[in-house]
Amino acid sequence: NKRVKIKTILEQTPIGQEITLMGWVRTKRSNKNVSFIALNDGSVITNYQVVADPNLIPEEILKKCTTGACLKIIGTVVKSQGAGQNSELNAKTIEVLGEADPEKYPLQPKKHSLEFLREIAHLRMRTNTFSAVFRVRHALAFAVHKYFNDKGFFYIHTPIITASDAEGAGETFKVTTLDISNPPRTPEGAVDFKQDFFEREANLTVSGQLEGELAAMALSEIYTFGPTFRAENSNTTRHLAEFWMIEPEMAFYDAEDNADLAEDFLKYLISYALEHCREDLSFLQSRLEEEEKSKPADQRSEMGLMDKLRFVVENEFVRITYTEAIEILRNSNPNKKKKFQYLIESWGADLQSEHERYLVEKHFKKPVILTDYPKEIKSFYMRQNEDGKTVAAMDILFPGIGEIIGGSQREERLDLLLKRMEELQIPIEEMWWFLDTRRFGSTPHAGFGLGFERMVQFVTGMGNIRDVIAFPRTPGNAEF
Ligand code: 4AD
Ligand code: MG
Repeated sequence: NKRVKIKTILEQTPIGQEITLMGWVRTKRSNKNVSFIALNDGSVITNYQVVADPNLIPEEILKKCTTGACLKIIGTVVKSQGAGQNSELNAKTIEVLGEADPEKYPLQPKKHSLEFLREIAHLRMRTNTFSAVFRVRHALAFAVHKYFNDKGFFYIHTPIITASDAEGAGETFKVTTLDISNPPRTPEGAVDFKQDFFEREANLTVSGQLEGELAAMALSEIYTFGPTFRAENSNTTRHLAEFWMIEPEMAFYDAEDNADLAEDFLKYLISYALEHCREDLSFLQSRLEEEEKSKPADQRSEMGLMDKLRFVVENEFVRITYTEAIEILRNSNPNKKKKFQYLIESWGADLQSEHERYLVEKHFKKPVILTDYPKEIKSFYMRQNEDGKTVAAMDILFPGIGEIIGGSQREERLDLLLKRMEELQIPIEEMWWFLDTRRFGSTPHAGFGLGFERMVQFVTGMGNIRDVIAFPRTPGNAEF
């Protein structure tokens, strides 16, 4: 007897067949005549009902079928008497593959808080909420590859260990084999990185973009999808020290082509999830509705999760420049709150998340593509606009999330790029390989980076980014 997954049973309902089912006990209800075991194997959110007759299954076995225990059951699929499910499994034999001592097993068949579950991240995937989140995450990752593959983009694997800091924010994790308590030193007393493994300083990548640009200058349209690392000490519900980023990079694209691709891509991912993760999304939607009930009435969201997702797919994103956004914020000043006022004086300031939220959630009530930011608040590689003040940057802001995508048209003109790098004191000699793309066969090109976890957050409605990655890396958290 081959193992059959619950997903397959629900799709095919093989009434009358003898099958083998394996999975983990969620709950057990017993009376004198019969035990009902709700089993889950992770293939779908639905638990499958196993009916155990105490005349067939020894009592010492049934006693071990407690929440969390892993079972192998051979039995016959029969039509279900009760409402809810078409079929159930009449157990012939039950083998306990792994017991779970009810005195010690931390997951009980009741609602646990997300905070508590974060403490037991090694077990939380066994809950409905987290198994749903990780199935949706999988579907989205698959959809990323499908989208780009169908469009003829090539998947490039950029290095995790690198010597460059693409974003120039100085928030890198160092990689070294030197004994940090007693490193080798140069005669001048500095740490002698020549004696390190790579014979230079190295760090974990913050972005695959620069390598992606090299690839786009050969293969035209590429994307990366890999882990990136940022040592920014921001303890928020939107930041991780290790997150996954998708970075398409396209030769011959200008800023508008870039925005068109980004909007189409985001809509595709959401549509894909709506089509392929219906049950999980509908579970997550009801979870959110429960959560909403505990909020004050005026803070509750009017739309359900799936309606919100459909709304984004069906409506055009708003496209405005940074300067226009500042104008809107200037004239808005809702409830005369102080926090919006400082913008009046300061064209050039970076938008705070309150400003982004105001634009997206209050003013437009739609995703917003914000373009042409002041060059001072953006990276060196962005293409400089005619006005001498702004660059062809693009951030995409989503409701409830804020910035989900950051991107730009790149500076392809060697002289302007060199000048900007000098202004920012970026070591030009070390970037010779990057600058070579501008020396040899340079062309307009553009790209963007989508923070994968922020996308998973948006689609699943999870409020904290720590709850959409299996093992979150945040300040003080790298145990398992
Ligand atoms: O805006 P960022 O820093 O842009 C880049 O890294 C560019 N090199 C991308 C490109 O043009 N190829 O990051 C891109 C996105 C952000 O919009 C956000 O969604 C996500 O990555 N992100 C984070 N996600 C989780 N935790 C963090 N600490 C993040 N920092 C950025
Ligand atoms: Mg950004």
